[in-house]
Amino acid sequence: MGILVPEDVEIYDAEKIIDWAVKQFGNKVGLSSSFSAEDVVIIDVLVKVCNKVGIEPNVFTIDTGRLPSETYEVIDRVREKYGIKVKVYFPDYREVEEMVNNYGMNLFYESVEKRELCCEIRKVRPLKRALEGLEAWITGLRREQSVTRKDIKKLEIDVIHNNIYKINPLADWSEKMVWDYIKENKIPYNALYDKGYASIGCAPCTRPIKKTEDIRAGRWWWEAPEHKECGIHVKKF
Ligand code: ADX
Ligand code: SF4
Repeated sequence: MGILVPEDVEIYDAEKIIDWAVKQFGNKVGLSSSFSAEDVVIIDVLVKVCNKVGIEPNVFTIDTGRLPSETYEVIDRVREKYGIKVKVYFPDYREVEEMVNNYGMNLFYESVEKRELCCEIRKVRPLKRALEGLEAWITGLRREQSVTRKDIKKLEIDVIHNNIYKINPLADWSEKMVWDYIKENKIPYNALYDKGYASIGCAPCTRPIKKTEDIRAGRWWWEAPEHKECGIHVKKF
């Protein structure tokens, strides 16, 4: 069946675009969730839409092996609250072993190249595996998050992942909209947000920020803003 892309898809709200995606792709659309504030909002919307349509939500996460324990806690709280399955993907243990045996456990602090290697092995490759067989994936990316994300669209063709569709339902949301939704709908969220964290990834590469700092200042804080992508959202063309 051909995919019908509505002309006005860029002005769809989050629920409408997720509803469109679920109806178009069925179980071939997956939500890639790091259980960030954005991602728990999307899970809430996705579960509502899937219940209406009558299919099981497809939610997966990549466990890099270096996540903070608060992230594991929120994964289980979300799983329980919604009664959903969360598919967990791990990196290849042989690649991780080779990497840490060659360069040490915390190689990422040494250079951008080593940090990118770690992200490649622990995150980028497992994501590729997770996307195999999917026709579309959903992410929690927002334009406001960083200079590297200011031009994202709600519906894109993902050229680095086999040209499948990439759906960013919260592309035009502000941080306030995300938190208002979480509070209004009483959604579980990562406890680190209450400890000064504004963007959460792996434990050794994430720190809390000051109120005056940029939202992603606590991610790979030792690197320049234009480098701050792990590789799963980088357009290489
Ligand atoms: S990152 O690339 O810098 O790590 P960020 O933490 O802002 O990304 O998350 C952006 C989006 O990427 C999330 O909303 C989610 O869709 C996806 N993502 C990031 N990390 C993971 C993960 N560990 N597992 C699954 N999806 C993830
Ligand atoms: Fe490795 Fe840090 Fe990237 Fe996690 S965020 S995969 S620990 S470099």
